[in-house]
Parts: sequence; structure tokens; C-alpha cells
Amino acid sequence: MTDKKVAFITGASSGIGYQTALEFAKTGVHVVGTARRIDRLQQLHTQINSLPDGHGEFLPIQADVQHADDMNIAVEQAIAHFGQIDILVANAGVGHRGALADANWDDIQTLLRTNIDGVLHSVRAVVPMMKKQGGGHIIFISSVVYNMTAPYTSIYAASKAFVSSLAKSLRLELEVDQIHVTDMLVGRTESEFNDKRMGAGGRNSVGRFPIMPTEKVAKGIVWASSHKRKAVALRPLDRLILLGNMLVPTLIGKRAMRHYK
Ligand SMILES: NC(=O)c1ccc[n+]([C@@H]2O[C@H](COP(=O)([O-])OP(=O)(O)OC[C@H]3O[C@@H](n4cnc5c(N)ncnc54)[C@H](OP(=O)(O)O)[C@@H]3O)[C@@H](O)[C@H]2O)c1
Repeated sequence: MTDKKVAFITGASSGIGYQTALEFAKTGVHVVGTARRIDRLQQLHTQINSLPDGHGEFLPIQADVQHADDMNIAVEQAIAHFGQIDILVANAGVGHRGALADANWDDIQTLLRTNIDGVLHSVRAVVPMMKKQGGGHIIFISSVVYNMTAPYTSIYAASKAFVSSLAKSLRLELEVDQIHVTDMLVGRTESEFNDKRMGAGGRNSVGRFPIMPTEKVAKGIVWASSHKRKAVALRPLDRLILLGNMLVPTLIGKRAMRHYK
């Protein structure tokens, strides 16, 4: 066991996950970073090792969230190394754009297996450890589209609706075990996400929609890890979108359609 906290982050090889690993390490938290691209995790390892004294240690583990075995083995390796996992950031995810009827089934399956199965495998691997150690904090990385009428990005939005719904129920299920659950409702962020998005091509940017740097999201996640918030939206704009999704879904849906089509 270590006296420092340990964060386990899926999808730490780029974007939000990479930056979150860095921010946690800067604050002295040990980090387990998982992803498929081990070279990127090694790069992150080098960057963390060059931080000023007092930084957290980094353990890179190659693991595919689509496979339960990978996640179970990664958690075992993390426990063998650090003795505990205090924070899970279920971050790994992919995007898709395009009409459902035109979508390639392989793309749909990749999205569902990453954004849904991947989150389930991560949570199911970590929760038994957290129960054993007497508590923990699970942070889901969802999106402001989770409750949006989102034509032409419907599969992605539905996958985030799954994540946010799961967060809500798990919060009560795990309360008795002192495991807190926070749902991060993230708005548009600068990362590799758009370049790698599956499905229809077209505009990479959603018009002139303001975009956040990964640092802002990562700092928000680190902040959330020491606060017992149910849900966190970082910008006033994101809170406005979430409210609009609830109050005027058709209006938001028509606007979204113009952007995503
Ligand atoms: N960017 C945005 O505007 C935005 C907005 C709201 C929410 N989000 C959410 O934020 C999360 C992170 O996205 P990002 O913006 O940081 O995008 P990103 O730069 O593309 O990062 C995605 C991460 O997920 C990992 N990943 C994908 N498939 C995986 C798999 N099968 N197994 C393990 N890791 C996998 C990638 O690693 P490998 O490819 O190396 O495996 C990568 O580290 C996602 O859940 C996304 O839905 C993003």
C-alpha cells in the first residue's frame, strides 16, 4: 500500500486521458495509464518522470477496454505495483458521425464495444478492489450530448446516455461501499477525437463552437476526484447546452442536425 492516492485511467495515450494522467501526477497522485498504443504511454511516462520532485509515479499498461481479460489483468498489475486503486477514470472512448441506416456495422460495433463494453469492463474490474480496500471514486467521462436530440451522431450520443444512466444507478448501488461516482459531462475538447471519429467524413469542427483545451478538462477531473459531486459540467456553455437539451429538445435537435449532417 502507498500513502499516495492511485488513479487508474483508461485511454491515457492521448487527449483528455493523457492530460489527466499528467495533472494527477503533478499533484503527487500515482497513475496507472492504460491504452492500446504503448509507445504513447511510454512517451507520457518520460514526460511524468521529468516533472519536478514530488510527482506521482506512472505505470503504463497496454490494454484494450473491449476485452474484459485485459482490464482484469491491468487491475491486477496495478494492485501488484501500488497495492490499491483509489480513483478510476473511465475515459477511453471513440466517436461516430453519420446516419444510423448508412453506418457500417463494424464501426457501430467498435463504438459500442469501446464506449459501453469498455466502461463496463473497467468498472467491473476495479469495483471488487475498491470494495476490498473500503472505498474509492469512479469518474465517468460522458458528454453534453448524453441527453441531446442528436441526429447524425445518434449512436455516439446514445452510448453516452448509457454511460450517464449507469453513473446515476451505480452511485446508489455503490454508496454502501463508500465508492463515490461522478459523471463528467464534457463539452467539445481539443484532442484526437474528431480526427479519429468513425463514419461519415465532413466537417471536423462543429462550426465555430468554442473548444476547450484538454488541460481544462483534466484539471476538472482532478478537482472532481476530491469532491463528491454527482455530475460536473465545466463551462457555463456546457451547462446551458444541458439545460437546453432538457427544456427545448426539438430546437437543440434541429440545430444539432445542421451541425452534424
Ligand atoms: N473531445 C471531445 O470533444 C469530447 C467531448 C465529450 C466527451 N469526450 C470523451 O472523452 C473521452 C476521451 O476522448 P478524447 O477527446 O481525449 O479523444 P482521443 O484523444 O481520441 O483519446 C481517446 C483515448 O481512448 C483510447 N481508446 C480508444 N479505444 C480504445 C480501446 N479499445 N482500448 C483502450 N483504449 C482505447 C485511445 O487510446 P488507444 O487508441 O491508444 O487505445 C485514447 O487514449 C472519450 O470517452 C470521449 O467520448 C470527448
